[in-house]
Amino acid sequence: MSKPKNSLSNKSKAWSGRFTEPVNALVQRYTASLNFDQRLAMVDIDGSLAHAEMLATQKIISKSDLVAIKKGMAQIRNEISKGQFQWDLALEDVHLNIESRLTQLVGDAGKRLHTGRSRNDQVATDIRLWLRGELDQILIQLKALRSALLKQAEKHAATIMPGHTHLQVAQPVTFGHHLMAYYEMFSRDTERLQDCRKRINQLPLGAAALAGTSYPIDRAQVAKALGFAGVCHNSLDAVSDRDFAIEFCAAAALIMMHISRLSEELILWISPRFSFIDLPDRFCTGSSIMPQKKNPDVPELARGKTGRVNGDLIALLTLMKAQPLAYNKDNQEDKEPLFDAANTVLDTLQIFADLVPNLIVKTDTMKKAAEEGFSTATDLADYLVKKGLPFRDAHEAVAQAVKLCIKKKCNLADLSLTELRAACGLGKQEKFIGNDVFAVLSTQGSVESRHHLGGTAPKQVLAAIKKARADLK
Ligand code: ARG
Repeated sequence: MSKPKNSLSNKSKAWSGRFTEPVNALVQRYTASLNFDQRLAMVDIDGSLAHAEMLATQKIISKSDLVAIKKGMAQIRNEISKGQFQWDLALEDVHLNIESRLTQLVGDAGKRLHTGRSRNDQVATDIRLWLRGELDQILIQLKALRSALLKQAEKHAATIMPGHTHLQVAQPVTFGHHLMAYYEMFSRDTERLQDCRKRINQLPLGAAALAGTSYPIDRAQVAKALGFAGVCHNSLDAVSDRDFAIEFCAAAALIMMHISRLSEELILWISPRFSFIDLPDRFCTGSSIMPQKKNPDVPELARGKTGRVNGDLIALLTLMKAQPLAYNKDNQEDKEPLFDAANTVLDTLQIFADLVPNLIVKTDTMKKAAEEGFSTATDLADYLVKKGLPFRDAHEAVAQAVKLCIKKKCNLADLSLTELRAACGLGKQEKFIGNDVFAVLSTQGSVESRHHLGGTAPKQVLAAIKKARADLK
């Protein structure tokens, strides 16, 4: 966007009729939103055109005014896209800049555009139109990320890795299952956005400043032209409601929180302490001092940017909490956090949709790590239960076996049958532990045995992927 020019004279200002002195330079800069709301220019024009069409249909303005407005707006669109539009900070915001240029181009028809409308319902309409477009882009990226997760999960449906609780090795899981956990998170995020979209997609125009208008307007026509599903039912609410923006930011914060958890895991997994995965170079950067370094910058930044989206949400909640009805200038502060949240989520999702399918997975290290930390101890306890031991006794028996392994610095599967029986305190009761125990102690046996809906068995993971693919279509 080109830099706005700035003049202090009140002459050009649409509201200056009753004012006797020009605005102070700092006040002008302080109250203007042009530097950030230029971004709404195209949707502002869309909204104006739909409003003008309706005014003409309702005979509030003439057909020839409408023709002139359309012609002027076409030129303005062109000037803006070519970067030739002369933005003027003295005109405060995007709405007044466009209206003023329109009047310059087409004269009185331009001055009639604002009939039955206020900047209050105009800006509320613009934000909704803009946000709807962003949200649709975000949904596309979420879908791309979900399908990337499915692709990796399918490749690694049977890849064994350690599952953690408390960041301690807990039980073996499959990497496919782990990735599908993120698929679930991003599916919920998708649903949340789709639901939020319904409340964004209502038309405020017609509320005018706050009380509605005395012109015979047709709000349904405008809603239809702009693709809104309906109109905001109450004029006071229409100009003052920013719930939809807050909801969007809350959904965005949840998306970023999920991305951040994934990032945290990627960062750990890339570290040589884990060495479960590697990232292609294009997602990393080096160090200016340590020549050997390859840092996982993308996940680290994503984790960091989660903080700013949380901040955006809190900013909007705080912005709204003490506003009396209806419109207050405070609302001008809704844009930057909202823009920031949308930008951040969109960029982040786009990058992750490319990163996830390109993860370099080190299956051997994963498998080895899954064999550490007595990850199949629960399987052994379950085995004993199936042979008739009460679960609490089985738990204690296995704890004793683990104790022995710690002393001998070995794994449960390394113990001989006799050692295992003795350690479990079941030396004389051979019926409890037979040779079939070793299949149970293997990580492979462990994951395969969790063969139920939502379980980590490779077959279950493949079934979950199949179902997800159908849902994603
Ligand atoms: N720039 C303003 C905003 O973003 C537009 C609405 C101004 N309305 C007013 N009554 N001053 O909210």
